[in-house]
Amino acid sequence: MISFDLKNLQQNITANPETIADFLKKIANRKQGFYEIVDDKKTLADVKSFAKKMRGKYQDVVILGIGGSALGAICLEQSLTHLFKKNAPRLHVLDNIDPTLISELEDVIDYKKTLFLVITKSGTTPETITQYFYFRDKTNKKKLDPKKHFVFITDPKNGFLRELATEERINSFAIPENVGGRFSVLTAVGLLPAALIGLNIDKLLAGARMMRDQFLSTNFEKNLPFQLAKIQYEFSKKGKNINVMIPYAQKIFRLADWYRQLLAESIGKKNLGITPINALGVTDQHSQLQLFNEGPNDKLFIFIEVKKFHTTLKIPKIYQKSGLDFLDKNITFNQLLQIEKDATAESLTKNNRPNFTIKIDAINEENLGALFMLFEGATAFLGEMFQINAFDQPGVELSKKLTKRALLNL
Ligand code: PA5
Repeated sequence: MISFDLKNLQQNITANPETIADFLKKIANRKQGFYEIVDDKKTLADVKSFAKKMRGKYQDVVILGIGGSALGAICLEQSLTHLFKKNAPRLHVLDNIDPTLISELEDVIDYKKTLFLVITKSGTTPETITQYFYFRDKTNKKKLDPKKHFVFITDPKNGFLRELATEERINSFAIPENVGGRFSVLTAVGLLPAALIGLNIDKLLAGARMMRDQFLSTNFEKNLPFQLAKIQYEFSKKGKNINVMIPYAQKIFRLADWYRQLLAESIGKKNLGITPINALGVTDQHSQLQLFNEGPNDKLFIFIEVKKFHTTLKIPKIYQKSGLDFLDKNITFNQLLQIEKDATAESLTKNNRPNFTIKIDAINEENLGALFMLFEGATAFLGEMFQINAFDQPGVELSKKLTKRALLNL
């Protein structure tokens, strides 16, 4: 269950059904599939049956990919598995080409027991292709069968990886043509790694479907993605061009990373956009909060609050000292976290800094699916509000093109 607490915005935000219908029509005209893929029963069945066949065969699953091909899986793994105890198969997501990262990953994997998921929509991203070359060369030298150690997740028709999948008969999954990298977490891009590490992808998609239905509603009260976009847009018009996302739960910290890419790459165009900043409660109360409270008043704060944690931990009272009487009440860490979040929100409100809270009842598959769809839907609305195409990324393509040109000129 997801709800919004908007009281600290101190502003009434609303819209009539005709306005929402108009935005939905504009989004539909872009012919994007991110809100339809949640009904794709075939991919769901294929992913589940593949993951079942792989059960018990690998110690490590390694994702070779970057950006939208990596961040969703990182978020799912961190949100929904134990933070420290990693059961097999362990998931590693490269998301970079730093040689130290690659070689230190090699220190902990056994190639014979590793499955590599090569994920790239375009099939030509230099970082992903070079990661693939590196690990493919290693498996070749070890005489390992590529069909047993690689899976490709890529465009259904085009690109180098799709060609190779056909030529070498390597297992592959398709990213629908009308779903871009940063909107692909609910395709095989996120579903396959999730299923391989034992997460319930039926529930993930059920949560996403519930939010998709809200996204398509013309009733403002029922459409959380529209509400979110409208808040972001209205406050950006008032000069709050930075959005700070602050989950008050360690496990969903990487959700803010996933969202940072979605917002930045979708909306940062034509000299417009909203700059995303990540923070973590309570950690960043002791890092960024001074700036947030008294620095430039150019930010909108989005708290994420979890009602029920996996556990309740009491804070023992072992000293009776004056000066520590604020700890006399036999509280739990759960209460302390909540009290600190409320106090932080209140301090921002007192300093006239707009903030609101997205509340989830627990960290689980349904809510993660719903959160992904909430932010994707809001981003689609936001693109139309700013009158830009939220689904392309010319700035990213330019850097890819210049990298390729520089490599050719070496
Ligand atoms: O959202 C996007 O389109 C990008 O961030 C891509 O995910 C990223 O550049 C990787 O591209 P690809 O999946 O084509 O390798």
